Amino acid sequence: MSIYILGIESSCDDTSAAVLKDRQILSNVIANQDIHKSYGGVVPELASRAHQQNIIPVVEVALQKAKIKKNQLSGIAFTRGPGLLGSLLVGTSFAKAFALGLNVPIIEVNHLKAHILAHFVETRPGSRHPDFPFLCLTVSGGHTQIVRVNSPSDMQILGKTIDDAAGEAFDKAAKIMGLPYPGGPQIDKLAAQGNPDAFTFPEPKIQGLNYSFSGLKTSFLYLVRDGLKKDEGFIEKNKADLAASYQATLIRVLLGKLRRAARETGIRQVAIAGGVSANSGIRRKLTQMAEKERWEVFIPEFQFTTDNAAMIAIAGYFKYLDGDFASQDLAPYARGGFQ
Ligand code: KG4
Ligand code: ZN
Repeated sequence: MSIYILGIESSCDDTSAAVLKDRQILSNVIANQDIHKSYGGVVPELASRAHQQNIIPVVEVALQKAKIKKNQLSGIAFTRGPGLLGSLLVGTSFAKAFALGLNVPIIEVNHLKAHILAHFVETRPGSRHPDFPFLCLTVSGGHTQIVRVNSPSDMQILGKTIDDAAGEAFDKAAKIMGLPYPGGPQIDKLAAQGNPDAFTFPEPKIQGLNYSFSGLKTSFLYLVRDGLKKDEGFIEKNKADLAASYQATLIRVLLGKLRRAARETGIRQVAIAGGVSANSGIRRKLTQMAEKERWEVFIPEFQFTTDNAAMIAIAGYFKYLDGDFASQDLAPYARGGFQ
């Protein structure tokens, strides 16, 4: 008999609901919250309010698109953390109440593991997915990690950022250039028209497989500040080159450590996940590196790069198979890595 899982994602500023039939995607509905644009970043209180308004219509649409009735659901999976507490509470409370009403189990999902497991969502029959163990570079607005994925439940962090996340590094540089939030996609677009060798930034020297991006962001800030002192049109005249050079440096650093992790572990199946994996530069460079290093590479479809509920539903599906259900007294967690 097929298993139908409803996934709920509300950890940051996207309200999302998705339905999977086993690993097959039936729907993946995402309501973005435009309200944060005018503030240059996510405002937690506004995010919780918007989730509260969006959650029921988003779930209704997800069920409609999936063409199933709510009483066909086998279980409800939801993001327990990490994320913004007020936002997580909306999804968690909804999942608990809905599951109680339907008399089905609830399944708590770790957002970071879910980004990785998105690779197992089947978008068409027989779509490719990695085999265990594989390596995954998770690059999002809150996290940057190299993970050895041994199974859906057993994941080991081999390296991570000691300060800013890769997405933050994109967003902060965009802010310095006066670009709207989120800045990652803006930098991506500008970089496509610029020269990646126009400016050089010192690359962080961090031991092992860890990363650091705060120094890079500071050197970008100083370069722009010094440029503006000499010419107030500095950003406008150089925005494509600034974006291209900065993006190229970030990608070099990210992929350099990933290559090292693959060489050290001998693992040749390599995946990328998280919001920054939507970046066209990193997708291209990773494909090139995979050819050189003879990796089998897994790059997610765009709908699975940034936050979405299909990834929560697939993580829930694996836990459902294990009978790993949560109890009604569980609380979300705002911080932390894998739990
Ligand atoms: O995974 P995600 O949606 O949310 C978190 O869990 O953090 O990632 C959001 C991050 C933001 O920092 C955003 O700027 C970045 O992903 N991002 C990109 C691109 N699209 C989204 N960064 C670079 N290039 C992109 N095309
Ligand atoms: Zn995320």
